[in-house]
Amino acid sequence: MSRTVYVNGDYLPEQEAKISVFDRGFLMADGVYEVTSVLGGRLIDFAGHCARLARSLGELEIRNPHSNDEWLAIHRELVARNGVEDGLVYLQVTRGNPGDRDFAFPPTDTPPTVVLFTQSKPGMAEAPAAKAGWKVISVPDIRWGRRDIKTVQLLYPSMAKMAAKAAGADDAWLVEDGCVTEGSSNNAYIVKGGRIITRALSNDILHGITRAAVLRLAAEAQMEVEERNFTIAEAQGADEAFITSASAFVMPVVEVDGAPVGSGQVGPVATRLREIYIDEMRKKAV
Ligand code: PDD
Repeated sequence: MSRTVYVNGDYLPEQEAKISVFDRGFLMADGVYEVTSVLGGRLIDFAGHCARLARSLGELEIRNPHSNDEWLAIHRELVARNGVEDGLVYLQVTRGNPGDRDFAFPPTDTPPTVVLFTQSKPGMAEAPAAKAGWKVISVPDIRWGRRDIKTVQLLYPSMAKMAAKAAGADDAWLVEDGCVTEGSSNNAYIVKGGRIITRALSNDILHGITRAAVLRLAAEAQMEVEERNFTIAEAQGADEAFITSASAFVMPVVEVDGAPVGSGQVGPVATRLREIYIDEMRKKAV
């Protein structure tokens, strides 16, 4: 069955959805995106994703074409039209179609291009991978310096993912100046002596919406959280490791560059945080 996708105000069968070859997103990766998960037909942490979308657009001086209420209505309509129970809504906003290729930005009244589509992932919250844990490898972080903006420049993260697959691993952790910045498409954490350690927010990493919620829930559960840099060697010597993202929630990491983390099994802290997170987010879903 064909999906219904959203393009600039229209709900269309995916085969009929079209974007100009001159779109700045296509030619220049000049656009931003959000991924919001859906559980039980409802949106997870929608307010967080809306706030980050507004920030990303603001940093790039792209006009936000919709109010938060309008974004919510579009998301809900698309979830309903596609009958998504569990899955994702992908949203992309680009600087639009100037009608030609030019490095200079087009006039500010050029309408942004808006695309949304859904991906169904039945049983996403019960992913078997969460029981087994991920293996990760490390690769150098050679991305640009504004990783806090959620742009569609995803070539290097794709290459990192392919390097992981080639090495028989599930994902790659990116390393800069000897320390882990984040995963290819997620935030990275280690656990040592009951303390959860993750890199502090800066332009070096994406300010994960799942990260914010998980750190808040960890603090509420009286877990200790330390926001600081850590190395691959520290991760290999940690008791546990995990990643967070809107699509993977909290995913345990059991191996880093071929070395087992702790017992090499999924640990209690990651397991508990995953449970608390999914539970709380289901309750607050809209
Ligand atoms: N990725 N860091 C990077 C580089 C990311 O691409 C993502 C999300 C995150 C986690 O952010 P959040 O918790 O808000 O999902 C961190 C999405 C899921 C993706 O590209 O599909």
